[in-house]
Amino acid sequence: MIIRSDGDRLTIQSPAKINLFLDVLGRREDGFHDLETVICAIDLEDTLEMRAVAGKEITLHLHGNGIGQREPLPEGEDNIIVKALRLLAQSSGVDQGMEVTLTKRIPSAAGLGGASSNAAAVLLGAARLWQHDWSLEQLAGVAAEVGSDVPFFLHGPAAICRGRGEIVQPLQNRLRLHLVLVHPPAGLSTARVFAHCQPGRPVSSAALIEALETGNRRALLDELHNSLQRTAAGLEPWVGRLEELLSGSGCLGFQMSGSGTSFFAICAHRQHARQVAARLRSQQPGQVDYASTLDGKKWLSGSPC
Ligand code: C5P
Repeated sequence: MIIRSDGDRLTIQSPAKINLFLDVLGRREDGFHDLETVICAIDLEDTLEMRAVAGKEITLHLHGNGIGQREPLPEGEDNIIVKALRLLAQSSGVDQGMEVTLTKRIPSAAGLGGASSNAAAVLLGAARLWQHDWSLEQLAGVAAEVGSDVPFFLHGPAAICRGRGEIVQPLQNRLRLHLVLVHPPAGLSTARVFAHCQPGRPVSSAALIEALETGNRRALLDELHNSLQRTAAGLEPWVGRLEELLSGSGCLGFQMSGSGTSFFAICAHRQHARQVAARLRSQQPGQVDYASTLDGKKWLSGSPC
């Protein structure tokens, strides 16, 4: 999350995420599921421009809406950006408005957290533009109300998240992972995947966390885990197809991200990622992108908190 200020405007790079580990522990009485998940932010990013305005109006302009997306993004009050700003303003009696422009690159219904990242970005941006003294904990409280993955993006770039995802414990990531991302033509709704999942025996994330914190890529590859992948495969044929294509792609390891349907393939270096991407593209799996995990040193540079 990089925030730049130019006069009365902020420009924020709002990153996607991948789940290196995701274990569903059980269904809760409130309908959500308890999770243990290890998340890393990556350099596939949307851009948000923000400006505080007089009056209480919150307006959202969507650049290139629908282009490269499976379906148009929700507009106005239905968009998570407007919901997050509205909630923040109401919870603290702010009487200013905001104008936001979103340039979208992160596919939606992909398990890459694009909408959650956008929501966290505007909360951080509003804290600066509305000049309110919110602590990161106060913003995290609002973020958790907006969505389970939103608090992660306030803390990133690597963390273990528990509860329904909103209890975030930052991690040191000593690995720069070179990734190929594959976004198939069909997406899946998070709610639908969770509604069909069957929690199994808990799997430990300890070895994966150790691999991340000690920079051991070989060990990390052995510990990738996503218990929603099987559920997603039962709901969307593209998931099984991508599992097959990625098995023959020459990458070091791969997994579906979050509730899908995007997959990430881990490669040895950038040149290797190019080879893997070229092989995949020839099989027309959908959109293929490159990305790397984000470095902690650059995270939240220029942040108000
Ligand atoms: O929190 P968020 O709005 O992103 O969640 C979308 C939907 O995914 C929820 O309404 C819920 O059905 C499901 N979900 C869940 N358990 C979680 C996170 C999400 O069941 N930990």
